[in-house]
Amino acid sequence: MQTPAKGRQTVTKSTEASSVKTYVRFDLIQRVQHIVFLISFTLLGFTGLPQKFPLSPISLAIFEAVGGVERIRAIHHASAIAMMIVSVFHVLEVTYRILVLRTPISMIPWIDDAKHVLHDIQYYLGFKKHKAYYGRYSYAEKMEYLALIWGTIVMGLTGFMMWNPITTLRFLPGEAVPAAKAAHGGEAVLAVLAIIIWHFYHVHIKHFNKSMFTGKLSREEMEHEHPAELAMIEAGKHQEPIPPAVLRKRQMIYAPIAVVILALFAFGFYYFVGYESTAVVDPDTGETVEVFVPVTPTPIPTEPAAGESSGASSGTLNWSAGIAPLLQSKCGMCHGADTSTGLAFDSYESIMKGGTNGPVVVPGDSVNSSLFKVQSAGGHFGQLTAEEIVRVQQWIDAGAPE
Ligand code: HEC
Repeated sequence: MQTPAKGRQTVTKSTEASSVKTYVRFDLIQRVQHIVFLISFTLLGFTGLPQKFPLSPISLAIFEAVGGVERIRAIHHASAIAMMIVSVFHVLEVTYRILVLRTPISMIPWIDDAKHVLHDIQYYLGFKKHKAYYGRYSYAEKMEYLALIWGTIVMGLTGFMMWNPITTLRFLPGEAVPAAKAAHGGEAVLAVLAIIIWHFYHVHIKHFNKSMFTGKLSREEMEHEHPAELAMIEAGKHQEPIPPAVLRKRQMIYAPIAVVILALFAFGFYYFVGYESTAVVDPDTGETVEVFVPVTPTPIPTEPAAGESSGASSGTLNWSAGIAPLLQSKCGMCHGADTSTGLAFDSYESIMKGGTNGPVVVPGDSVNSSLFKVQSAGGHFGQLTAEEIVRVQQWIDAGAPE
């Protein structure tokens, strides 16, 4: 770990071009954490949002490009593990800074921050000439940091619940898993938008602040963004170096604490990642076969035998009264006596004879009659309605009476 005061000490460095005073803002450990977090966050967003909006064309393109949802999920899980590791590392780092280095806690909003907010509101309304003089972290930076912590906790917990739904339901009611899913997706959208709109604006668009990569700020940037901190540094009010003996003693005390933190997290990880093989396991996709599923229209109840009195067409299911008029009107232009399809419906004899492939009607067996098969499969040149198909089917099953 770096020395405590490094972040606040003045480091005079003459760069090759000109001797410009720079101030160390982030040490290497902080910059590495930022990069790991940045990469895992980006990957999580890229693989998570398509899962939240799976039908959007953009999502489909991403699924396609990456090679399927299974791979997307694998990348999502791997990035989540990377983010958890960097988060644990951060917890260790922060506790080390607080317990061993006794660095003043500079990320928690405090009374000064409330004053700064009021001051800035007045500035934006034109009542003040300048913005508030921020210290090491402005209230906006603190809020963003806290939002990140809160977001990571929410995403971690809800992610765990989706990763281990069965375990979750041992402790929580059934609604918990879909609720976790809703929270995970909602928080994700919020986080991505916050980064793109808020974070990018403040650190890249308004003024490209490279300190998270170079670790340094120029004097001008310090004056502009952290004037109160600059004043402290220039007044020489930075932390005294810790005597090695004291440091050593504190480290000895800290070591077991670190071990406990690590053990807790390792235990948590074990549960998170390995405890439950996910409920959603892809079954082995066997061979793909074409299935023949005949259209099976809902049978229309036919009138009982007494139907003779009730209507002309309903009860009489024979060729001349029920079927011939139907087929001749609907199919006659292609299946007439003088048409070239080789199958004619012009008389009882010709339909029973069949076409070039043989009979199309097997009396009593509609399922094996191509007349019924062709029509129920749908998409023929001439197509009967579902009701008409049922009528033809009933006629065939009744033995195709003349
Ligand atoms: C626009 C022309 C056209 C119309 C209308 C038409 N068909 Fe056909 N039909 C064909 C042709 C061409 C074939 C032969 C080629 C084929 O099997 O696809 C055929 C074949 C068939 C066969 C298959 C014979 C076999 O042995 O496989 C059946 C059954 C059939 N038609 C029934 C009907 C019925 C019932 C109707 C009326 C609802 C109808 N068709 C209307 C053109 C037509």
